[in-house]
Amino acid sequence: MNPKWNAANIPDLRGRTAIVTGASGGVGYEIAFQLAVHGAHVILASRNHDRTSEAARRIKAAAPKTSVEVQLLDLADLHSVRRFTTTFSERHHGLDILVNNAGASGGPHRLTKDGLEAHFQINYLGHFALTGLLMSRLSLRAGSRVVSMSSDIASQGRIHFEDLQSQHKYGFVRAYAQSKLANLLFAFELDRRCRQAGNGVMSLATNPGVARSGLLIGKDADWGRPRSGTENLLRILQNILAQPAEKGALPALYQATDPSATSSEYVIGTKWPRPGYPSSGKIPRAALDRTTARQLWEISEKLTGVYYTSINTDHL
Ligand SMILES: NC(=O)c1ccc[n+]([C@@H]2O[C@H](COP(=O)([O-])OP(=O)(O)OC[C@H]3O[C@@H](n4cnc5c(N)ncnc54)[C@H](OP(=O)(O)O)[C@@H]3O)[C@@H](O)[C@H]2O)c1
Repeated sequence: MNPKWNAANIPDLRGRTAIVTGASGGVGYEIAFQLAVHGAHVILASRNHDRTSEAARRIKAAAPKTSVEVQLLDLADLHSVRRFTTTFSERHHGLDILVNNAGASGGPHRLTKDGLEAHFQINYLGHFALTGLLMSRLSLRAGSRVVSMSSDIASQGRIHFEDLQSQHKYGFVRAYAQSKLANLLFAFELDRRCRQAGNGVMSLATNPGVARSGLLIGKDADWGRPRSGTENLLRILQNILAQPAEKGALPALYQATDPSATSSEYVIGTKWPRPGYPSSGKIPRAALDRTTARQLWEISEKLTGVYYTSINTDHL
């Protein structure tokens, strides 16, 4: 990998269609911006109409020739995920790039409308359902890619099959780490299944390093309370260590667009001494456990009601 890979290396994306979840701000906004500037038609998929429309307006103001579209998607609500994919399929034929970027971290134990723990559903399960419902559209385009956003914290995670929704034991770091490990397990399992089925879809994993964003900013409206001491501390550390969100976007942009990207590589945001450039990261051992990946996959199908019939196989 070019050690100084940056947005200028993104190839011409004219004719491509891309979806970026969580594009209303932070790293997702920067990913959407660069994909659009390089010619892709980009669907900004986020839950809040005003924030997402404002993000689209900012992209158009900075780069008037870009083609962007707002489509509301609340990953904490599986009906919203289904509505999103129905609307997408009515408006578009194939899908070239899906960046599963949206994420949440922090707050007290919260259940979504579907009765699932918030980190688990927003960060992982909602994206599992979204990708499954878009599979037929992805396989219409040669070389299409699904990019899943994890975090360094995945290496501390464990999939608590006995308590997936953190009902018996909850800490937001524990729940976040579980969801981010699930993102990695999903990325690699999806890739294995797509290869086996030969449908031409690549699934790639990434993480932005530490980036300045809205994560942990304190979301009273979501959390029903202000930031706790631990959340405050992590937020301060994030601010000190963080690189700008546009640099945090580069690893995902590499995975989504570079012709030499491969699904076996975990591309992460480098910290010191070359902050901001994507590089090849060490995959946490737990993320390569095929038994866990398969078990999580099967539970996820049951929890979401979304079955990957075109790529499920008994021969993995
Ligand atoms: N920043 C870091 O240092 C860091 C480090 C490691 C990994 N990550 C990962 O990077 C990704 C992007 O995070 P970020 O740092 O850019 O955070 P951010 O600024 O808070 O952005 C998160 C995005 O996700 C959206 N979102 C939240 N809940 C949603 C829901 N229920 N449905 C749909 N969209 C929802 C947010 O929309 P609203 O505007 O409506 O809230 C926002 O657009 C996440 O997956 C995160 O885990 C970040």
